[in-house]
Amino acid sequence: MVQHLETFLAALLVASGVSAGPAPAPTPAPRLEDAVIKRGNTSVSCTFSGSDGYLSANASKTACATIVLSALTVPAGITLDMEGLNDGTNIVFVGNTTFEYAEWSGSLFSVSGNNITVRGAPGSSLDGQGALYWDGMGNSGGVTKPKFFKANNLNNSMLDSVVIRNAPRNSFSLNYVNNLLVKDVVVDDSTGDALGKNTDGFNINNANNVLITGAKVWNQDDCVAINSGQNIVFTKGFCSGGHGLSIGSIGGQDNDNAVQNVTFSDTVMEKSQQSVRIKSISGANGTVADITYRNIFMSGGTDYGIIVDQSYNGVDGEPTNGVSITGFVLQNVTGTVNDNATNKYIECGEGSCSDWTWTDVQVTGGLNSASCMNVPEGISC
Ligand SMILES: *[C@@H]1O[C@H](CO)[C@@H](O)[C@H](O)[C@H]1NC(C)=O
Ligand SMILES: *[C@@H]1O[C@H](CO)[C@@H](O)[C@H](O)[C@H]1NC(C)=O
Ligand SMILES: *[C@@H]1O[C@H](CO)[C@@H](O)[C@H](O)[C@H]1NC(C)=O
Ligand SMILES: *[C@@H]1O[C@H](CO)[C@@H](O)[C@H](O)[C@H]1NC(C)=O
Ligand SMILES: *[C@@H]1O[C@H](CO)[C@@H](O)[C@H](O)[C@H]1NC(C)=O
Ligand SMILES: *[C@@H]1O[C@H](CO)[C@@H](O)[C@H](O)[C@H]1NC(C)=O
Ligand SMILES: *[C@@H]1O[C@H](CO)[C@@H](O)[C@H](O)[C@H]1NC(C)=O
Ligand SMILES: *[C@@H]1O[C@H](CO)[C@@H](O)[C@H](O)[C@H]1NC(C)=O
Ligand SMILES: *[C@@H]1O[C@H](CO)[C@@H](O)[C@H](O)[C@H]1NC(C)=O
Repeated sequence: MVQHLETFLAALLVASGVSAGPAPAPTPAPRLEDAVIKRGNTSVSCTFSGSDGYLSANASKTACATIVLSALTVPAGITLDMEGLNDGTNIVFVGNTTFEYAEWSGSLFSVSGNNITVRGAPGSSLDGQGALYWDGMGNSGGVTKPKFFKANNLNNSMLDSVVIRNAPRNSFSLNYVNNLLVKDVVVDDSTGDALGKNTDGFNINNANNVLITGAKVWNQDDCVAINSGQNIVFTKGFCSGGHGLSIGSIGGQDNDNAVQNVTFSDTVMEKSQQSVRIKSISGANGTVADITYRNIFMSGGTDYGIIVDQSYNGVDGEPTNGVSITGFVLQNVTGTVNDNATNKYIECGEGSCSDWTWTDVQVTGGLNSASCMNVPEGISC
């Protein structure tokens, strides 16, 4: 299936009716001759298990076409490092992989390469033992917590049915990824509802052509946060307890970030601080263009149903206009928030928000804001 990823993506996207505005030219398809060069013995399957399995896996990973990681215990403070794999390598998680406790910044697992498949066998999971770290302070203090699953420099690849439990903080980080299919993955950080923080589901940066379909996320920060990249689809998802389907926060350490051509569709949002969210850091520059939310249903929203915030990390009520937000389409975004939450809130900088199209937007149950700022023509706050 992986070698047909582009065809597969195209078919799925046509089926879901995705269309959007202009985006940078698509990356050319991988050349087969490039993919074959470094391939090892394609018939070798290797199984690594137990408490020193990670060592042999690390030592032998380029000699195996299929790497089975079976109920590994990964020692404290060490990355289960599947970077630099041969093209076409398959990784399969079997049983429960446990990562022992250490105060460090991680990642607990990392993978890179071309034409790689990472699959979770039925009943398998990766357990980060978050409860040992969660102290209500997340990234802002307390014990140093590791990030969990890093996929950097991963091209023409697939993450399939991987289940992550109890992320100490950020769950999946996807950075410099090209043509990536993420199918039926689960992030279950639900036991962190009291003390877990910054347990983002997906942090996406420098990404091109990513399709995340069928994801289920229970967490305590953004379900998805896209900071830079283009041609990204999140569909048929479920997010509970977190901070929404988010673009941004734009700015911060990076400047002049661009996010373009992103679609969130057919997704259910439950008990989320907000469901639809675009946030740009006060004073930042950047571009957010052609962002669509279609067929989104929310219930039990705690703070906002829909929010656009251009004063993030700055002074509320003083939005800045260095990040333009154009081509923002909402189609059939419905549901309820709690009675002390706000249905919709828009705080745009002067002149930075334009060309928005909202149809069939009905978020009810909460307060109507009287203080929206610089709302684009034709949009009701
Ligand atoms: C590939 O690995 C298999 C199984 O270990 C072995 O039988 C075969 O000889 C190897 N082929 C090459 C070309 O090394
Ligand atoms: C993993 O292998 C690399 C070299 O391939 C080595 O530098 C590194 O120390 C190994 N890591 C561990 C934890 O043994
Ligand atoms: C991708 O890997 C699979 C084996 O896992 C192989 O059959 C296929 O030819 C590879 N495709 C490319 C484009 O390298
Ligand atoms: C794996 O962990 C899950 C969740 O903690 C548990 O329900 C399941 O029984 C474990 N499976 C095995 C094989 O230990
Ligand atoms: C992935 O693709 C990018 C852009 O084509 C390339 O620069 C990078 O080296 C590739 N990564 C790997 C691991 O092959
Ligand atoms: C937007 O992204 C999707 C998904 O990758 C892609 O199929 C579509 O062609 C892109 N649209 C434009 C205008 O580039
Ligand atoms: C944003 O752009 C403006 C105008 O070019 C510039 O003056 C300002 O320094 C930039 N801000 C940042 C944070 O780089
Ligand atoms: C609107 O979205 C809901 C899910 O929230 C879906 O059941 C319904 O079919 C959608 N309506 C249309 C016209 O697509
Ligand atoms: C709504 O009320 C609950 C219960 O009193 C409180 O915990 C929560 O902070 C309030 N939410 C907002 C947005 O005011």
